[in-house]
Amino acid sequence: MGKSYPTVSAEYLKALDKAKRKLRGLIAEKNCAPLMLRLAWHSAGTFDQGSKTGGPFGTMRLKAEQGHEANNGIDIAIRLLEPIKEQFPTLSYADFYQLAGVVAVEVTGGPDIPFHPGRQDKTEPPVEGRLPDATKGCDHLRDVFVKQMGLSDQDIVALSGGHTLGRCHKERSGFEGPWTANPLIFDNSYFTELLSGDKEGLLQLPSDKALLSDPAFRPLVEKYAADEDAFFADYAVAHQKLSELGFAEA
Ligand code: HEM
Repeated sequence: MGKSYPTVSAEYLKALDKAKRKLRGLIAEKNCAPLMLRLAWHSAGTFDQGSKTGGPFGTMRLKAEQGHEANNGIDIAIRLLEPIKEQFPTLSYADFYQLAGVVAVEVTGGPDIPFHPGRQDKTEPPVEGRLPDATKGCDHLRDVFVKQMGLSDQDIVALSGGHTLGRCHKERSGFEGPWTANPLIFDNSYFTELLSGDKEGLLQLPSDKALLSDPAFRPLVEKYAADEDAFFADYAVAHQKLSELGFAEA
């Protein structure tokens, strides 16, 4: 079951390292870690294990995919990244967008996520409709994350903790507001807020609240609220899996 990662050249590794530094600078300057994480997740989360289509293969660079309803606002991330991407023409968009997601978590205080390069860009965007619907519940989350993407219940809860960063924008999703009081800090406050119920100025999507009502999900919410180290460890594993869906399969 081990992955067999492609070997990339020393020059490629050097370009990646330099791009990583540029990404840290951009994210610090523009406070855009949340949008970069959402870009990496929406790029990868389209993977369908049955047809082996979609996934983190750079297709978000294409207008067609940016135009999918779930991706409202993602074009802003692409636009912010393009001046850096132009400096590293040898890097695949696939690696570059996933690197941006890893850096976003790192610079906001989250866990280090192992990063393996070598994804190749695809030319076909995934079909529309593969990303989760925020108005739905646990059955839907499992349909998308477990059946479609091949991830686990634990990955669903850990990755939902990505909502520790950022906020909803009325003009993008119809929802409005942040999940936590410190949306530019990656910590476990998504889980503590989820358990403490509705609060003035903060938001919980139906798909967030659903985690509280499921007998497999709820104990993980409680664990991550009580133990940030446990959240960080499981988050790093889940994020790495997400970023490698369909990549380097043995
Ligand atoms: C579990 C299913 C999920 C649903 C239904 C969902 C839904 C949403 C919605 C509706 C927004 C608001 C977009 C906007 O108005 O700007 C959002 C934002 C966001 N999502 Fe999720 N999401 C899910 C999972 C995830 C995962 C797995 C991650 C990353 C690990 C993630 C990271 C983010 C981030 C960082 C933002 C904030 C973006 C910003 O501030 O611009 N989400 N999500």
